[in-house]
Amino acid sequence: MPLQDQFGRVIRDLRISITDRCNYRCVYCRTGNEGAQFAELPLADYLRMARIFVALGITKIRLTGGEPLLRRDISDLVRALAQLRTTEGAPLELAITTNGHLLAELARPLKNAGLSRVTVSMDAVDPERFARITRVPNGYAAVLAGLRASREAGLSPVKVNCVLLRGFNEDQVEAFGRFARDEGVTVRFIEFMPLEEGRVWKPDVVIPLTEILERMARFAPFHEVAHEPSSTARHYRFDDGLGEFGVIAPVTLPFCGACSRIRLTCDGKIRTCLFSLREHDLLAVLRAGGTDEELARLIEHAVANKEERHHIGEPGFVQPGRTMVHIGG
Ligand code: 5AD
Ligand code: SF4
Repeated sequence: MPLQDQFGRVIRDLRISITDRCNYRCVYCRTGNEGAQFAELPLADYLRMARIFVALGITKIRLTGGEPLLRRDISDLVRALAQLRTTEGAPLELAITTNGHLLAELARPLKNAGLSRVTVSMDAVDPERFARITRVPNGYAAVLAGLRASREAGLSPVKVNCVLLRGFNEDQVEAFGRFARDEGVTVRFIEFMPLEEGRVWKPDVVIPLTEILERMARFAPFHEVAHEPSSTARHYRFDDGLGEFGVIAPVTLPFCGACSRIRLTCDGKIRTCLFSLREHDLLAVLRAGGTDEELARLIEHAVANKEERHHIGEPGFVQPGRTMVHIGG
């Protein structure tokens, strides 16, 4: 029996944050937390936890952070994860979400280690704008090189995540349309969610799906194509067949009913939703000498209590105490 919650959703997709350190300080994510304590576990701990999740039916693992490529031995973790088999006996689907800054040199080793795909976060396709958002100089050239190295290494399809924020980068939509076609990548625009350290989220800072589509229509005509029910993104293809893009609209078009995800934080806590107010301490069980069986019971208990949906924008919405950089995207 695969992992299933009380609403009948089957959980196949595990995201593991392997650090909350980051070499960028994006305006909407990290604000003034310099000097904060960082928490990360030995990679062997994530591996043991992952093995137990996989035995319970997980088929896809995405490594996130913070910035996961800051873990120097990440290729070793990927290699070990690539040895695992799903309950059906197949290899896992293995992906990484990264800011791409270190990807130029790591794309090939990661591919050789068994990584299937990468998603690179990029919120502008202009060097100056990129620096203003990430608050580090000279990132753009490094990320572009990383993106190209990933494509050449065969980590395809290479996806680009772009979080749109009013007043920062909503005018980049059309430029991203051109970029997707020129670079042969799939760009996915993401509606900004209230998960940031600065607590700047307000409904009018969000660039909604409808506005993204209006802006892209000024660049080139496109049409919607079918997407998998559990996929978080709506998919669109340019009418001339050259290039595609997606929109992830957790705010204006929530997809909680089709959610197949569960998360492990860098300090070993299970989160059943980005917006969970409660976590399940898997690390504590592991550190107390818990058996695989005991760890599995806690995972099943967490899944059974997965939230039905998020409540962004509703009266009484409570922002979780931990932000994206700790939870992992
Ligand atoms: N809302 C939406 N997306 C976010 N990300 C980080 N913070 C937020 C937020 N508050 C994105 C990152 C990355 C992915 C893991 O999530 O840009 O692409
Ligand atoms: Fe780092 Fe990603 Fe947060 Fe930016 S959004 S500060 S790249 S974790």
